Amino acid sequence: MEGNCTAAGAAAPSGVSGAVFGALMAMLSQSLGRLSDGSAYPADAGAVLRERYDFVVVGAGSAGSAVAARLSENPAWSVLLLEAGGDPPPDSEVPAFFFALQNSPIDWAYRTEPDPKSCRGLKDRRCPVPRGKALGGSSAINALMYIRGSRNDYDTWARLGNDGWNYENVLPYFKKSEDITSTATLQLKDSNLHHATGGPLTVSNYFPSPFLDMLEQSTIELGQKVVNDFRLDDAFGFSRSLATIRNGERCSSAKAFLGAAKNRSNLHVLKHSLALKVLINENTKTAYGVRFEKDGKVYEANADKEVVLSAGTINSPQLLMLSGIGPKKHLQEIGISPIIQDLNVGGNLQEHSAFYGVYHTLDPEPRPSFADNMLNSAYSYLHERSGPLAGARAVEYTGFIHTQKDPKDITPEDTPNVQLIHVIMDHTDVASVDIFMKGLNFDDETASVIREAVRHSDILLQIPVLLHPTSTGSILLKSPDPHEYPLIHGGYFSRPEDLEVLVDATLFAAARGRTAALRARNATLLRLPLAGCAGLERDSREHWACAVQELATTLFHPVGTCRMGPRGDARAVVDPRLRVHGVQGLRVVDASVMPTLPSGNTNAPTIMIAEKAADMIKQDWQ
Ligand SMILES: Cc1cc2nc3c(=O)[nH]c(=O)nc-3n(C[C@H](O)[C@H](O)[C@H](O)COP(=O)(O)OP(=O)(O)OC[C@H]3O[C@@H](n4cnc5c(N)ncnc54)[C@H](O)[C@@H]3O)c2cc1C
Ligand SMILES: *[C@@H]1O[C@H](CO)[C@@H](O)[C@H](O)[C@H]1NC(C)=O
Ligand SMILES: *[C@@H]1O[C@H](CO)[C@@H](O)[C@H](O)[C@H]1NC(C)=O
Repeated sequence: MEGNCTAAGAAAPSGVSGAVFGALMAMLSQSLGRLSDGSAYPADAGAVLRERYDFVVVGAGSAGSAVAARLSENPAWSVLLLEAGGDPPPDSEVPAFFFALQNSPIDWAYRTEPDPKSCRGLKDRRCPVPRGKALGGSSAINALMYIRGSRNDYDTWARLGNDGWNYENVLPYFKKSEDITSTATLQLKDSNLHHATGGPLTVSNYFPSPFLDMLEQSTIELGQKVVNDFRLDDAFGFSRSLATIRNGERCSSAKAFLGAAKNRSNLHVLKHSLALKVLINENTKTAYGVRFEKDGKVYEANADKEVVLSAGTINSPQLLMLSGIGPKKHLQEIGISPIIQDLNVGGNLQEHSAFYGVYHTLDPEPRPSFADNMLNSAYSYLHERSGPLAGARAVEYTGFIHTQKDPKDITPEDTPNVQLIHVIMDHTDVASVDIFMKGLNFDDETASVIREAVRHSDILLQIPVLLHPTSTGSILLKSPDPHEYPLIHGGYFSRPEDLEVLVDATLFAAARGRTAALRARNATLLRLPLAGCAGLERDSREHWACAVQELATTLFHPVGTCRMGPRGDARAVVDPRLRVHGVQGLRVVDASVMPTLPSGNTNAPTIMIAEKAADMIKQDWQ
């Protein structure tokens, strides 16, 4: 499919800090702006807005962009897509800058409520919950990893009563959106069984990190499997992740789907438009439109067929509750009326807890420092969309293990319980470390230890991730005001078994530091101060368990707050066709419908959900 690859929006760069970064960004933005032949994104429909549409979709994120674009394939249907943000800024197009987008104007920048069991060592004892606020949603600020999970994840969804969601059912929808351009992947045996070309979403490789060989050697020493590709039916092992990158630039869901659909006159995209409420006929319990706000004015758009909520795991439940759909008692306490439907909205919040706490300093190799190399990197990026700026500091190297199983004993019935993410911090790149620490909400004392270390050493950060937590949290309204952020109760580690798995995974990561591949670089585990863990013996399980509760935050994968499940399932909000139980004309289509977390990053699974939902909506109306 033809797409507009090099174009970037005309918006100003977001809040990247650091003097060198600033100068580089100014140069890059100018160039990205100059190279763009107009915008990759659709124009704002403000001038042509109508009162009635067949479908009103709320949220142009990973799911909403795909749903709206697919529905508008039927020229007889009119579709309005409302998005609270605008076009993503030029710096969001550069893969290596993804972390700098947190706390920028295109991040909602939510925070969890303080909790005695988690996020204890972070500023204000709150975990950051970044969410994209722009066309593309969180796919406009994410780390670009393209991962699908394990076949057992989807078979589990089906087993929970969600007909149509098992592995065989979902594989075609992963492939439907895909345009794989990685030659290494295309050359693999049976590649066409797992991958497809011609879809709107470009899937390719990051510019490779120079640390991949070291990481792979240490993986072999640890006795783990090295694979060429992660496939749903073969989810274990370590490899380079694929990435949603097109010609060296971010390929968000908006660039992929809305970019390809932007000339359709039956698709109206309204930017900087905050949905306030779903309009529902109280007597017939039928949704008929959306009330929203743009430039300080309130409007209503009618949906003759359906309203589709794709506002994401935090905002879709918020909107449902504001509209009278949610836990009756809570809605009464907040003063929402009328109450349309009593459902477990906002419950079942699930997250991939991630421990950003295992840092090994490495003697730097005799190569130019990050700062020295900055101009070269900028040059290769500007001229070829190549070099370190088209990479992501070794984030592409990832692995899936089961902490209780030897790799040799893994069978197809097994599902990974831990993912490992790797990040390299280049010696002298203090500015990036500062941005990273700010994004994680680390306190100044912890951050300063890492900042000091990176002045002289490369740092390998290993992030163990809990793939299948048993702990759940919730989203609740703080007030009936739609502008007020909802309360996020993470609930991480409310069940002790989750903590045990993450401690096992941390010990696995620490062991990588003792492999010959890392010892060759004098790898040394960095000691973080962690006042909250004083008195516990270093390297003991107790100390690590404490450290996890101090510093673990998330891999930014909240799901489950509008859980999919059959009628009669008390935890369910939507049915397996994603229709809100007990309400007509209203679906939820985004990561919030996942009943359980997949074994991996959530962007590709969310886009899969959107593809499948669009087909179901088409079937239901044709
Ligand atoms: C920092 C970060 C890194 C990540 N890294 C990866 C990764 O490398 N790989 C991966 O697979 N996944 C990653 N993820 C997760 C992945 O991006 C998300 O799971 C996915 O984008 C969720 O899609 P969604 O459609 O559910 O929600 P979103 O993409 O968040 O879309 C929701 C949209 O709705 C809009 N909206 C919300 N409320 C309203 C309202 N009231 N009115 C109008 N519009 C509204 C929002 O502005 C947003 O555009 C990451 C996420 C983050 C934040
Ligand atoms: C949209 O229309 C413009 C102007 O006619 C054209 O140049 C562009 O290629 C079209 N884009 C797509 C994605 O069809
Ligand atoms: C590791 O440390 C030793 C002793 O300090 C030193 O001789 C060696 O050069 C270091 N290795 C590297 C790769 O820098």
